[in-house]
Amino acid sequence: MIRPDAIDFVHGAGGPFALKAAVCAVCVKESSSLIPGVHTPALGLPLPSVQRDFKLDKTLVVNGASASTGIMAIQVARAMGVDVIAIVGAANIPLAMRAGACAAIDRAAPSLVNQVVDAVKALEGNEFAGIFDAISVETTLATNLAVLDQLGRGHLALTHPPPQHIPQNVQAGIIFAVNNVATPCWRTYVTATLEGGQLQCLPPPLVVGNGLEWVQRGSEMSKAGVSGTKLVVELD
Ligand SMILES: NC(=O)c1ccc[n+]([C@@H]2O[C@H](COP(=O)([O-])OP(=O)(O)OC[C@H]3O[C@@H](n4cnc5c(N)ncnc54)[C@H](OP(=O)(O)O)[C@@H]3O)[C@@H](O)[C@H]2O)c1
Repeated sequence: MIRPDAIDFVHGAGGPFALKAAVCAVCVKESSSLIPGVHTPALGLPLPSVQRDFKLDKTLVVNGASASTGIMAIQVARAMGVDVIAIVGAANIPLAMRAGACAAIDRAAPSLVNQVVDAVKALEGNEFAGIFDAISVETTLATNLAVLDQLGRGHLALTHPPPQHIPQNVQAGIIFAVNNVATPCWRTYVTATLEGGQLQCLPPPLVVGNGLEWVQRGSEMSKAGVSGTKLVVELD
């Protein structure tokens, strides 16, 4: 990957690992075992493409879609021709739509599960590809499992290990973003689409400070929780 001149380091810094994680979440075709009993997900979608304006007739739900990995998953799924339904905090609905979601639903909505199921069913003719949960905490897991229960089955890609008891009709796995699944993207997709503007550096960065001494402050801010932004410490 070559960073285009128009993208500075502050904006570009958040992209590579998020892209790798997003591609691992949705493009792995065959599940493998990381440690006994813990598998990688296998949503089996194609790699993102520089080609535009085509449809794969598949639907992906991204839970935690304003997270760095979540928003990258929206963008790469769109670049596969996949329709994306995003679950985000209300304030980040515009961000998810800007990234390319076809619908974005407030994660605090009382009827969240029904709204997600209705949005999936509304995309008639599409095959349901599964859910990528970028957050993978108890509450998001509960939403995922309730949605999959209503849909009858499905793949679930998580950023943290799945709970022990998962219904039999759910194929759940944890992504392992240290492999070469995304390698072709660096050559064929990332630089060209950053240059063309189709791939955006989202969520927008927030510079914590300049110098190693700001790393601790950045860690504290991250631990306190961020929303729709990427914390960046500049070093120059
Ligand atoms: N397994 C792997 O290989 C791998 C790879 C990469 C990342 N990860 C893990 O994946 C997780 C996400 O990383 P990231 O950098 O993408 O996250 P991030 O950018 O820090 O996520 C921030 C977002 O999390 C959302 N959020 C916070 N608490 C939430 C909750 N209780 N329910 C739903 N959404 C919530 C917020 O969304 P709203 O404000 O819109 O609600 C916020 O925009 C981290 O735990 C990271 O360690 C794992």
